[in-house]
Formats: sequence, C-alpha cells, structure tokens
Amino acid sequence: QDADASAPEEYARAVISDLPSNPKLFLRRYQGTWVLESWVPGIVAIQRGFAPRGGDVVLASPPKCGTTWLKALAFATMARGVHPPAGDPGHPLLRVNPHDCVPFMEKLFAAGLGSKVMDALPSPRLMATHMHHSVLPASIKKNPDCKIVYICRDPKDMLVSMWQFSRRIRPDLELSDLLEAACDGSCLSGPIWDHVLGYWNASKASPETVLFLRYEEMLQDPVSNVVKLSRFLGRPFSPAEEEAGVAMDVMRLCSFEKLKDLEVNKAGSGSGSPSLRGVREGAFVNSSYFRRGEAGDWANHMTPEMARRLDAVMEERFCGSGFSF
Ligand code: A3P
Repeated sequence: QDADASAPEEYARAVISDLPSNPKLFLRRYQGTWVLESWVPGIVAIQRGFAPRGGDVVLASPPKCGTTWLKALAFATMARGVHPPAGDPGHPLLRVNPHDCVPFMEKLFAAGLGSKVMDALPSPRLMATHMHHSVLPASIKKNPDCKIVYICRDPKDMLVSMWQFSRRIRPDLELSDLLEAACDGSCLSGPIWDHVLGYWNASKASPETVLFLRYEEMLQDPVSNVVKLSRFLGRPFSPAEEEAGVAMDVMRLCSFEKLKDLEVNKAGSGSGSPSLRGVREGAFVNSSYFRRGEAGDWANHMTPEMARRLDAVMEERFCGSGFSF
C-alpha cells in the first residue's frame, strides 16, 4: 500500500489495523515486509518526508546481524579526524553505546523526532535502518550521493540471537516459534531472503553506492573489512594512517570484547540518549546488545533438524540468485 496524502501518523494509524499481522511476534506486514507494528508510522514518515543530504550514509541490516558492530565501525571510521580511535579517553564510543552514536530511523521517525534529530546531525550523517531495500524511499536508494552499507548473517545465528534478545520481554517465546516464522517469511524483517536479496542485487547493480558485508567475514578478517569500509565511505586510510595502524585501532576499539567490557555497555538498567534511539529501551539495556559475538552459536540451541530445515528454505529461496549463506 502506498502512503496517501494525509499526515503520516494518521495514515499509519488508519492502515495499521488493515495490515496482515503476526500477533505472536507483534508484527505487521507492510509493503510485503514484516515489521514491528510500532515501526510502521516511522516507515511511513520516512517514505513520505525523509530529506537526505549529500554524503548521507545508511547502515542497513536485518535485526541481530551485527548492527551494533557496524554502527561502531562506521562511526569510528568517519569520526577518526576528531576522535582518534586510540589514545582518546573522550572517544564517544567509550562513553556511550553505539546505538547512541548512530540513530535508528524507524523508531526515531515513529517517535516524531525524525526531522528534528536528523536535521541537527552534522554532515556527513550516519543513520541506521532495518527496512528492506524495496521499502527505502527513492530519495535514498536512487540518490547517487547517499551510500548504503549492508550487513547480514547466517540466519541460524540471527534467529538464535533474536530469540535470546526477545526473551528479555517474552520469556515464553520458543526458538521454534521464530523458526516457523523465519521459514514462512513472517519473522521480524522477513522474508529474510527478500531482505538480503534486495541489498545483494543493489550492491551488484551499484557497488559504488551499496556495500554488502557479512558478519562471518567481518569476524574472520575485521581489519580488511575496516579498510574496505573506509574506502567505500570515501575516507580511505592515508599512507601515514596505514603506517600508524589506524585501521587496527578502529577494529580494536569496536571489538566485541572491548565494547562489551566498557562500563557504559555493562549497564544493567536504563539506556542511552532517548533522542537518537527514538525511545528509551526498557528491557533492552546496553548490555543486551553484546551476548556471544560469535559465528555458529546456533549449534548450542537448535537441533540439527531445525538447522537443516532453515538451511533448506534459504537454499531454495536463494537458488539462482548468485547469493548463498
Ligand atoms: P549474538 O547474540 O549471537 O551474540 P545487532 O547489533 O544487529 O542487534 O546484533 C547483535 C549481535 O551482534 C549479537 O550476537 C551481539 O553479541 C553481536 N555483537 C554486538 N557487538 C559486536 C561486536 N562489536 N563484534 C561482534 N559481534 C557483536
């Protein structure tokens, strides 16, 4: 459904009740994609009113695929002129959670803070979204001056991570509930294959504006990926920076171990700035964004049968696309 001419909140309220729902997961299907019901007004507002600036960088991901890490890496890379990644005790990433350094668009716009907060950010702006590529406004995806960095992850680890995260507010949620939803496409940010393929195809069509990253490859070789990211963002490391190992400094500052052990991210209650996240997070305190930080933890939670089923669905859906997990 397309937005009509009414106010975004009104439009969203009017259409939400007509959208197909997955009540168990608090989801609605909006333009073919499954999103949290509370994000719908934000997505509508973004589609109707987001005004990009030249140089904007959108960090896109399905949830639980390394968004926090990508936010930290992109922020540290872009801000390194003002905040060197090593030897700056005042570095924002040492003081606040990465989610308070890069705003999450859907929630911010849903809270009516979109324009106010985004307008106040200095250029070049960093922002994050879980929206499918198909749902992004043309003002972003058809704009040669906006860049998109995408990260995805083995859906088995994504689901286990999402399950552990969601159980903070839904202790009754079974992993099998999420598996069912993932297989039929109706999990959060599903269908997963459409989410991935939208950005995969965009990155093939326009590699200079869409960078496609994988969580597992980043774990395997974080420094090379930081270098790749810096080049893509138009901020390559200079020979002097290379000599000084600045890419390594960025990698260390943003590593799972480093961020997880910071006092700000160990916080057991409360969370950072409501202005960048849209709303305070309640159960999703800073520490909830750092769990294991590994590839393959699914094997500790899924039966081989569950894993085979999910793999088979993904294989079938990605068949012929040139992409596979
Ligand atoms: P696990 O639950 O498997 O540990 P998101 O940031 O998209 O919500 O994804 C969260 C996942 O990324 C969690 O995975 C979390 O532990 C992991 N993660 C968070 N920060 C990370 C970092 N700096 N490096 C690697 N993984 C990180």
